[in-house]
Amino acid sequence: MAEARTADRPVLRVMSGEAISPPPAWMMRQAGRYLPEYRATRAEAGSFLDLCYNPAFATEVTLQPIRRFGFEASILFSDILVVPHALGQDVRFVEGEGPRLDALQGRAQFERLREAGDPAIFSHLAPVFEAVERIRGALPNETTLLGFCGAPWTVASYMIGGRGTVDLAPARALAVSDPALLDALLDRLVAVQTEYLVRQLRAGADAVQIFESHAGVLPALEQKAGVLPDSSDGDALKRFSLGPIARMVQGIRAQVPDAKIIVFAKGSGLEGHARVVPETGASAVGVDWGVDLAAMRARVPASTVTQGNLHPETLIEGGRALDAAVDAILEATAGLPHIFNLGHGITPQTPIAHVEQMLTRLRAGR
Ligand code: CP3
Repeated sequence: MAEARTADRPVLRVMSGEAISPPPAWMMRQAGRYLPEYRATRAEAGSFLDLCYNPAFATEVTLQPIRRFGFEASILFSDILVVPHALGQDVRFVEGEGPRLDALQGRAQFERLREAGDPAIFSHLAPVFEAVERIRGALPNETTLLGFCGAPWTVASYMIGGRGTVDLAPARALAVSDPALLDALLDRLVAVQTEYLVRQLRAGADAVQIFESHAGVLPALEQKAGVLPDSSDGDALKRFSLGPIARMVQGIRAQVPDAKIIVFAKGSGLEGHARVVPETGASAVGVDWGVDLAAMRARVPASTVTQGNLHPETLIEGGRALDAAVDAILEATAGLPHIFNLGHGITPQTPIAHVEQMLTRLRAGR
């Protein structure tokens, strides 16, 4: 069964180590505000969270970019912050500003979060699993369905800061002032999100991606005394990011042995990216736009599965710069297992014609 599915779906074939030319493609944030049909469904649904928790609407917006562009993978429409919400934290999305959470300021608030085994967490998330089932049922057979969640450090940084912060100062401050509390929060997120991804896989997701969008600030922690008292903890990237992700990967595979998992550790640099597969056990590494893809491919074994990494701003620019950037990705990954993607999410101001141009160039090239 699993093998038949893999054979039919190019993205899964690449995740099993096969090089396909031209590579299959999808885009992070491919369902979003750059699409008029997304804006229409979003207006009908009400708030952003209403859209996330309504399986019919979530299915509709997930399918929109597949209908329009025929991407080889589809990603469940939801958000990484439904997990803190399910843990009992207040989460809102403020129009034009982004997410706002009731910042976790200390142990008393941590104690009020739901325990990892609390069944209320997964009844809260039930609409997500229903959406996964519906999406898989509606997708073309050859299209891979990706589930996802945020990595523990990235989700924790929103829970602690209460919002997106430029340098994650609140989360880094907690790592210094009360590392045990941060570890307890990360452990809670590891446990809950392992189960969350297993349930997405059982509901019909073919593979999952773990988004570590805030790996880039971790090296700044290394200078702080007390954060890494014991050298056996490794460095900050290992202790707060790759270690917790590795525990998730292990936990998922204990229940779904052949689970295919992409890890995207944005901002971790060439060396950080090179560590993702060996240190987490992921099936593939998502490469952000800040890393030179040719250098990355030269740095890792030929068998490593990569994904990425067109700069979202080059997609906005279009024209010859876009064609050249697509060609450079094809050249850097020729004969190697690679999934074409952006190096971070598509932004609302991106012209649809440029997405079409990107795919035309990609599909003509080899
Ligand atoms: O990729 C996809 O198409 C799947 C859907 C998806 C969303 N968010 C939808 C969304 C995914 C995979 C995410 C992940 C996510 N959410 C991340 C990790 C990836 C990354 O981009 O770094 C993070 C950090 C978040 C938290 C979050 N959600 C922020 C900071 C924002 C505000 C920024 C913005 O673009 O407005 C969101 C809102 C959000 N999540 C939107 C979408 C389509 C826009 C909300 C809207 O429609 O009004």
